[in-house]
Amino acid sequence: MPKVVTIDGPAGAGKSTAARRLAGRLGWQFLNTGAMFRAVTLAALRRGTDVASESQLDVLTADLEVDVSGGRVVLDGEDVTRELDRRRSEISLASGPIASSAVVRGHLLHWQREFAREVDTVTEGRDQGTVVFPDAFRKFFLTANEVERARRRVAELEANGQHASFEDVLADQRIRDARDAARTIAPMKPAADALHIDTSGKTIDQVVEELASHILIL
Ligand code: DC
Repeated sequence: MPKVVTIDGPAGAGKSTAARRLAGRLGWQFLNTGAMFRAVTLAALRRGTDVASESQLDVLTADLEVDVSGGRVVLDGEDVTRELDRRRSEISLASGPIASSAVVRGHLLHWQREFAREVDTVTEGRDQGTVVFPDAFRKFFLTANEVERARRRVAELEANGQHASFEDVLADQRIRDARDAARTIAPMKPAADALHIDTSGKTIDQVVEELASHILIL
């Protein structure tokens, strides 16, 4: 039975980078479930799907092929990694109804379990330890204070050649945190058996080291 390590937590806590690096260090595959939700959101925007309609979302998602292996996001055969980065703020805001949809979450849960069916996997998201992989080998919940998370996001945008004010990023982040924690289906919350790690003031190397220390002792 392949092993799964789950890393959940709010936006900007450093989940993706830490999960990718940890996977590299363990020689496991990395699953970025946020990228899956953003790819479905992009498809809905492109097709003009009514995101308030569960039946339209069902048709949309049932037909989609989203491949997030290999560090790229491929939507129906098209590499949309750059477009997702370029339109990140818009897509993150638009992803709310998609992430709250029971039918979308049903399809994605299936994709995510398939992804981890045969190969040891480090996965990151909001509901990986609670809903998708309740029997995971190790579960982590990463947090950081909101100011640091917003600062990291601004730096990330700038590295991508985009500019956003700290105030705007913080305001968006508060909306998304509240939305992710409040939804009824698969809300963002730590699993009862998750280890909490506060990444405030820590470098990514320190975070990866700390995560690895809880896995490699066994
Ligand atoms: O982690 P991220 O910002 O790339 O996530 C994009 C969107 O998907 C955001 O609205 C949160 C949502 N999401 C989710 O509901 N469950 C997950 N496992 C991962 C992401």
